[in-house]
Amino acid sequence: METQLIKLTEENSEEAIAQAAKLLLEGKIVGIPTETVYGLGANAYDAAAVREIFNVKGRPQDNPLIVHISDLMMLNSIVKEITPEAAALARRFWPGPLTIVLHKTERIPDVISCGLPTVAVRMPVHPVASALIRKAGVPVAAPSANLSGLPSTTTAQHVYDDLKGKIPMILDGGPCDVGVESTVISLTGERPVILRPGIITLEQIREVLPDAVISEAATHELAPGEKAESPGMKYKHYSPKADVTLVRGSLEHFAQYVKQVAACDAYAMCFDGEEESIEIPCISYGAKGDLNAQARRLFSVLRAVDRFNASSVFVRLEPDTDPASAVYNRLIRSAANKVVEV
Ligand code: TXA
Ligand code: MG
Repeated sequence: METQLIKLTEENSEEAIAQAAKLLLEGKIVGIPTETVYGLGANAYDAAAVREIFNVKGRPQDNPLIVHISDLMMLNSIVKEITPEAAALARRFWPGPLTIVLHKTERIPDVISCGLPTVAVRMPVHPVASALIRKAGVPVAAPSANLSGLPSTTTAQHVYDDLKGKIPMILDGGPCDVGVESTVISLTGERPVILRPGIITLEQIREVLPDAVISEAATHELAPGEKAESPGMKYKHYSPKADVTLVRGSLEHFAQYVKQVAACDAYAMCFDGEEESIEIPCISYGAKGDLNAQARRLFSVLRAVDRFNASSVFVRLEPDTDPASAVYNRLIRSAANKVVEV
């Protein structure tokens, strides 16, 4: 299959979005920009098309998908009840990078929810994602548009690198603003639980829902046999081919450590302006302390490390790194929990 990569401009975007909407309604899957990461979209009401997403990504069959909507009318037809908590979150954070888990209606095929009675829903703020859903007139099921296990995609080129020949079209809306996936919060239990940290933090959510908590499993490794509240939490994730190790400590200690242990084809991931102090090849993933800037670059840098054919990569972490931050959450998974204190 030939994959069309369409760079959107003011002149062509209306027509390209119409073409993509037509493909969705024909049961095809399309690469689409959102504010968080690129998504791999299918008509959420078309079970066969949704099944194709799992094939194309090589995604485990028990990891459910997020359904994307363009307005609250769509929410009405896919969830049993818009609870007061859900309405409050939607008012404050939608459209935007927040995904809400609620009880689903029968309109959502089991292949999306992987047999769970719930569905994860998000209203993206990206103008292309929003216009495409509106044009198609159906909710769009979309996981991140990467091969399963690899870092998520934050440019159309990343999507092309992973999925060329497997999907008919990718809409190129430029690099993603946020850079990490949405915050996922479940409202189906006794109290609101954040299942996946994102750029919208627990503190922000608590301004709306004061009793919200963050799932233990989002900040800690699952114990053997422990059940994952969100199936996505149990899989190896975001991993480049290079072996990733997180190194927590001061710049001085980090530099000493990597100089001692790094092989000649190893890379370091540091903060802006630190390159001079580190004696192995190194690439910055953002300004120290600026989690939004780090989130924006993280996946792109993890992918770059593979293009450089690095065998391993050492990622600098400040001693006071917040384990509940979205950036740490992605890094600890990409490192399969390997952290060194220096
Ligand atoms: O920002 C995002 O959320 C991006 C863009 C494309 O919207 N999408 C995304 O999808 O990250 P994906 O499939 O890579 O991650 C979906 C996450 C997984 O961790 C999955 O386990 C969780 O949402 N999830 C989906 N449905 C769920 C449900 N019913 N209950 C609990 N967790 C659910
Ligand atoms: Mg994903």
